[in-house]
Amino acid sequence: MSVHSTSGADRPVTTATFRARKASSERIVMLTAYDASSARLVDAAGVDAILVGDSLGMTVLGYDSTLPVTMDDMTRATAAVTRVARRALVVTDLPFMSYQASTEDAMRNAGRLMSEGGAGAVKLEGGTEVADTVRRLVAAGIPVMGHVGLTPQSVHQLGGYSVQAKDAPAAERLLDDCHALQDAGAFAIVLECIPAELASLVGSELSIPTIGIGAGAGCDGEVQVFHDLLGLGGAFTPRHAKRYAELGEAVRDAVSAYAADVRSGAFPGEQQSTHMDAAALAEVRACRTGAVRRITGR
Ligand code: KIV
Repeated sequence: MSVHSTSGADRPVTTATFRARKASSERIVMLTAYDASSARLVDAAGVDAILVGDSLGMTVLGYDSTLPVTMDDMTRATAAVTRVARRALVVTDLPFMSYQASTEDAMRNAGRLMSEGGAGAVKLEGGTEVADTVRRLVAAGIPVMGHVGLTPQSVHQLGGYSVQAKDAPAAERLLDDCHALQDAGAFAIVLECIPAELASLVGSELSIPTIGIGAGAGCDGEVQVFHDLLGLGGAFTPRHAKRYAELGEAVRDAVSAYAADVRSGAFPGEQQSTHMDAAALAEVRACRTGAVRRITGR
């Protein structure tokens, strides 16, 4: 299946597109990007939405969780992505502790991601406990995507990165959380690492689209992490990801070839060099030996 939409393939994607896709059952394709070069490629490939995820903490900044990611990190990455994305809706994560302490924080920080970063929407983690914040953001004109299930900003409370809501009470709570987010005005919800049956049930109860990652095939769309898809994240691939290319190996081989060429003198060669006019060179040489007065007069 092509990732290009069959309807309105060249029109910019908006939250209205998300609504329409739920109605038409046309699946939504979403992928992370954190810089201009990857965003340009992802956008040109026809994905519907780019997530500037706080996963950049791990994929780009080298942290072992999303917790150290700051508003400055997210704003700079978002601005790089929105400078080049032409069609995809750009959704940006509100990072850890940028919205949990108060609705005022959430408003100020979401506003910054939109005005300074150019984001088209923000995403935040949590269910019922963030519903009032979602309501205020939406009332201020800020589209909000929810995120439930495995919520990486709560990794210490969850005790690791494991599948969530496997028993009946936890599944019921997750359903309640999704309804609370929908009622508060969220335009879509990411379901991360929950059983496929539960994700399908959520999708059948909600009128807004569900975007899965590790949530089976029954969601209205899918989101994945750029580095996981392309083999850029090292040896480990999460169970929910599929590697569509081995760019990590390709990059390592290319850089090794470059290093070998520099060391052997094969690069740079004639093709990568420019040359000076012979008379100008002779003049410079004469100046250096003191045979004539300096040309620049300095
Ligand atoms: O930060 C991120 O990349 C995410 C996805 C895993 C949904 O939130």
